[in-house]
Amino acid sequence: MAKPRVLSGIQPTADSFHLGNYLGAIRQWVTMQETHDAFYCVVDLHAITIPVEAATLRHRSRVAAAQLFAVGLDPERATVFVQSHIREHTELAWVLNCLTGMGEAGRMTQFKDKSAKFGESAASVGLFTYPILQAADILLYHAESVPVGADQKQHLELTRDLAQRFNHRFGDTFTLPQPHIVKSVEKITDLQDPAAKMSKSSSSPQGIIDVLEQPGPMRKKIMRAVTDTGTEVAFDEENKPGISNLLRIQSALSGTPIPDLVARYEGQGYGTFKKDVAEVVADTLTPIRERTEKLLADEGELDRLLAIGAGRARAVAQQTMAQVRERVGF
Ligand code: ADP
Ligand code: NA
Repeated sequence: MAKPRVLSGIQPTADSFHLGNYLGAIRQWVTMQETHDAFYCVVDLHAITIPVEAATLRHRSRVAAAQLFAVGLDPERATVFVQSHIREHTELAWVLNCLTGMGEAGRMTQFKDKSAKFGESAASVGLFTYPILQAADILLYHAESVPVGADQKQHLELTRDLAQRFNHRFGDTFTLPQPHIVKSVEKITDLQDPAAKMSKSSSSPQGIIDVLEQPGPMRKKIMRAVTDTGTEVAFDEENKPGISNLLRIQSALSGTPIPDLVARYEGQGYGTFKKDVAEVVADTLTPIRERTEKLLADEGELDRLLAIGAGRARAVAQQTMAQVRERVGF
């Protein structure tokens, strides 16, 4: 039986992915390349919905792609590509734009959140129609499954509505994607502010661990992570959010269940525990960083890997768009 096709994208909006992106998203991508016909996309065209320098964007897209290969995505098993390499994304997005109602687009709550920072009227129309480009990303490849967190559910609903509307109006063309609920992807929190999630927009660089971070500074961040004033290593989200976050990280990276970790550190202080967390983080990230650096230093090799993915993605995208043009009438 054919494996179900999954599509997932990640924006190149920082100079490195962070530990939250790794544990919350990219690591699952590696697992899914075994169980799914996986299409993974660095969505650089989504990243220009917010102003960014050309050189910065170009650099970030390459780092993101290199990191995807470095974490273990295999170009022979997964289709890894950069969105802008496939022109059909924007072409399909235009067609879908013309099928979307103003009111319907206006109900997307993420636009309200994302534009709140600079005010709705200063936000670009691109930011407003971003979910429609996302729908094109998915529908272009007939993805059956899309990993979604809570904040993306509404966008997948829109994608399904647009697919249905197109099929109804122009004839059966698109597959209706299903949400793929990733098993307990827990949020990794900011090391300095356990109430906030680790994010590239974190208020302090001390709160976030980049995948490309050197082990020395990384260790310092973990040793200085905010905890409660107690001494007992216990999993208690409410009263010990900092320690609970470190337990989640250690458990996720080592595969040891949290209760076993708690038992292991009984009677020991936070220092020993934090040192071990730093060690497992270093053990995980060091090879990823080294592989990323090697790929970034070898431009030809990274281009070659991306061309494999683009070739496969383009073959599907061109076929879909040919059908769409035929049915829409251009
Ligand atoms: P950021 O929050 O840094 O802006 P994005 O919003 O670009 O990151 O998220 C990219 C992916 O990484 C998404 O799938 C998101 O769910 C996941 N992710 C981001 N931050 C975390 C976190 N702190 N814990 C778990 N997953 C996260
Ligand atoms: Na974000």
